Formats: sequence, structure tokens, C-alpha cells
Amino acid sequence: NVLILDFGSQYTQLIARRVRELNIFCEIFPYNNPPTDLSTYKAVILSGSPFSVRAEDAPHPDLSEIRGKLPLLAVCYGAQYLAHFHGGEVAPSNTREYGRANLSYLKEQEPFLDGVQAGSQVWMSHSDTIKQLPTNGIKLASTKDVENAAYRIDGEDTYAIQFHPEVYHSTDGKQILENFLVNIAEVPQNFTPDTFVEDIVQELKGKIQNDKVVLGLSGGVDSTVAAVLLHKAIGANLYCIFVNNGLLRKNEFESVLHQYKDMGLNVKGVDASDRFLSQLAGVDDPETKRKIIGRVFIEVFDDEAHQLTDVKWLAQGTIYPDVIESVSVKGPSATIKSHHNVGGLPDFMKLQVVEPLRMLFKDEVRRVGASLGIDPELLGRHPFPGPGLSIRILGDITPEKVRILQEVDAIFIEGLKSHGLYNQVWQAGAILLPVNSVGVMGDERTYEKVVALRAVESTDGMTADWVHLPYDFLMKISNEIINKVKGVNRVVYDISSKPPATIEWE
Ligand code: XMP
Repeated sequence: NVLILDFGSQYTQLIARRVRELNIFCEIFPYNNPPTDLSTYKAVILSGSPFSVRAEDAPHPDLSEIRGKLPLLAVCYGAQYLAHFHGGEVAPSNTREYGRANLSYLKEQEPFLDGVQAGSQVWMSHSDTIKQLPTNGIKLASTKDVENAAYRIDGEDTYAIQFHPEVYHSTDGKQILENFLVNIAEVPQNFTPDTFVEDIVQELKGKIQNDKVVLGLSGGVDSTVAAVLLHKAIGANLYCIFVNNGLLRKNEFESVLHQYKDMGLNVKGVDASDRFLSQLAGVDDPETKRKIIGRVFIEVFDDEAHQLTDVKWLAQGTIYPDVIESVSVKGPSATIKSHHNVGGLPDFMKLQVVEPLRMLFKDEVRRVGASLGIDPELLGRHPFPGPGLSIRILGDITPEKVRILQEVDAIFIEGLKSHGLYNQVWQAGAILLPVNSVGVMGDERTYEKVVALRAVESTDGMTADWVHLPYDFLMKISNEIINKVKGVNRVVYDISSKPPATIEWE
């Protein structure tokens, strides 16, 4: 187990991902709230930071329990921190030190640099530079502009690098992390989907014992994998509830429910479409729509949960990025993407929360899902927003508009699948615009709805590019939509990236 102390760098999550890619488990803690018990950690990594070590309010962590006791790797700010406070010197740099650079000097015979070639590209991002190494510092590498690009402290397993090994642009970054963690710190590489499943199932068994657990399934990857893990641990004591809010994709409720039952899950499907749609009638403000859907969901879920007796736990599919966000250096954030966690704990249900995936990144959830034998098609599904089609019907919602959008969306998604494009796209869907446009069909003029198609590439939804879908494909889909879906006479394709646009239109 590896401890990453976060000083607020935008790259801290990337460090964790690179470490996990080595099949090594790691956890991120804010520097000002580290774990009290360090005995389970085999190595520590200090992250970068937006601060200058010379600033008065910069993070000044107490490393007395770590340095010299555990193998330590200090990245960027960490490297400067060690130098500044331990006999070295840090000063503003004269030259720009942002972006790509190449290692021009490498000290020979250093296990830390095994497999790293002279000239290797590294990613720099700092405005201070280490003018003088700390006491007992030994220079390990330089670039043209950065004399002390890497160093170690003689007599300790303490290493420091000015560049960012976690960023892909640092070509040998992963190798350096491996040298440090595997060869120097001797951390075992035993964190795999299979071992995760074994461990978490044992943990869940011990924690929950013979209690009953309720879980809201959404049809998405996270809640499904959480359910299958819990099912493996506690079997029939897991009660799943899958709510149809009337805003799912075409036939989704029936087909996903069927799939869940086939997986052996104890699941109750609740069709509350009318309840949601009647509450939404006449509402056109996007945030009000989201609030109504959140509220009605909790009401429906609570009604169902009350029909179960003696439930002690509420299970959720929370994943690591949400956990990190809520404990980040910036302080507990007030907005933990409340809208992204449909089914957050209602006050009136005094249940304990169990979150089997809270230590995993999204790609790890998928791999765990695969190791549990979950259908790859289900694991590869595009993200779908909790409020569903409601935020893709601009303006107010009616059952007829839902029907139109479901038809359009189904043609688009099926088309992506049958043309082998679905897996090249991170998320896709259709949007129903609140305008009519004129058209002509046969001898008649029509005055009907416009739909927009949206397909984006992304890794986490924070930024996104529109996908260059083939013109032939767009032509086919457009024809099919206009010919088959009554009420639509025009199709447009959204060619905006995020930022400045967003993925959804509301
Ligand atoms: P935006 O539109 O902000 O979307 O670029 C980023 C990602 O978040 C999803 N999204 C939501 N998910 N409830 C959700 O559960 C919401 O209210 C919501 N709004 C946006 C969106 O589908 C995309 O994956």
C-alpha cells in the first residue's frame, strides 16, 4: 500500500492512476490530514502543488514520521520543499520551465534511473527552481534549463524529481515510478481485479454479516458492479430497487431489468413513470427539473425501502474520484456533484452506508466488473445522466416528446452499434429542440421538430471533443430518423467541444 500526500496539484489523481497501473494499491490523503497510522504503508509519494515553497501560506507538512523511515518520492513541489527546508536553496527560475524538456544528464548506475535513456522526454511545470540541493543531496539528472531535475539524499531512500512522472508526456515516467516502488521500496504488485474482488467480498461479509442491504440500481456500470459484488458477499440479503422514471432510453427499463434478473440479482422494478412525468409537467427550467427528479426518486425509493423490513444498510456505487473530490486539499467541498449521485441518503432513512467501489477509478470498476463475469456490453455502456432524457428535451416535458426522443435516440445508438462506432465514442445521445422548422414531404409542407445528435470523446467528462463521425453514417441516420420518427423533419449534428460548450444541452 502506497500513501500519496496531496498538496493540491491538478496531477495528483494521475499519480494514483499510474501507481495502480503497476498493480499497486495506493491512497490519496490531503497533506494537512494524513492517516494517523502509517504502519500499513510501504512507501510515500509527495505530489506537486500550485504553491511556491517560498510563499508564507504554502503547505509545510511535518514529515518527521515519514522521512528516513519509509521510502519517499517527492515530485515537483515535494522536491522543492525538501530542498528549501533542509539546507538547499529554491529561487524563482529565470527561464520558462513549463512543458516538454529532455534529460541531458543522467547519473550512471542508479537503480532509480534504470531503463531511462539520456534524452528521455519529461514534463516540467513549475516557476521555482532548485538552485542548491539539500544537505547530503546527490544530483541524479539534469535538463538543459534545470540543473537539479532529480536528486536523492545519501543514506536514505529519499528521492526527488522536479518533473512530473505521472504525466504521459514524461516518456519514462512510469519506469521511474516502477524503479522507485518495485525495486527500491519493494512494494508488492498484488492489486489486481481478482484480488480486489476476493478482499472486498471478505470485507463486506465481515462488515454486513447477516444484515439486509438495499441498493438502487440505475442500469449504469457503477451501481451494477456494486450490486454484483454485494450479491457475491451476502447473496439474498441484498435487495435491489430499479426505478423507471419514464426518462430512460427506449425499452431500457424492461431489458435491463431482465438482464439483472438473469444475473441472479434480487431486484424489484418499480415503474414510476407517471409519477415523475406528472410532477414535471409544465416545468421548463433545467435545474428545477433536476430537483424534481431527485426529490421524486427519493420518495419512490423510500416508499419501496419501507416495504422491506429490518434493512440496516444502504449501498451506493460511489467511486474514488467522488471521494477524492470531497476530501481534497481545497477542503470538504459543499457541492459533491449532488446531481451525480441520484439516490443520496435521505435524512429519514437512518441507514449506514456501504460503498464497495469507493477506492476504485472508473476503468478499474470496469475491470472488476469483467473479472466478475458481467456482460461486456453492459460494462461498456456510455454514461447516461441521472435525470435521463429530461435534460435532453429542452424546455417542458410531455409524454409525446419523450416518445419522439426515445425513437430518435434508439435509431442513433443502434446505428452506432451496427456500424462499429459505439465503442469509439465516450457518450452519445440525441437532443430534442424546442423549435419547429419547416420542411417538405411529398407535396405537403411540414412544420415539425428539430433534433440534434451529439457524440463526444472524453476520458472523464470534464473536457470533451465532438467525434468526427463519417458523413455517410450521419446521412443514413438522418434519413432513417426523418423517415421513421413522426414529428421530426430536421436533424443537425452538434460540433461543439467542451469547454466552452458542455456535453448535455441543459
Ligand atoms: P456536462 O453536460 O456537464 O456533462 O458536460 C458531463 C457529464 O455529466 C453528465 N451529466 C449528468 N449526470 N446528472 C447526472 O447524473 C446530471 O444532472 C447531469 N448533468 C450532466 C453528462 O451526461 C456527462 O456525462
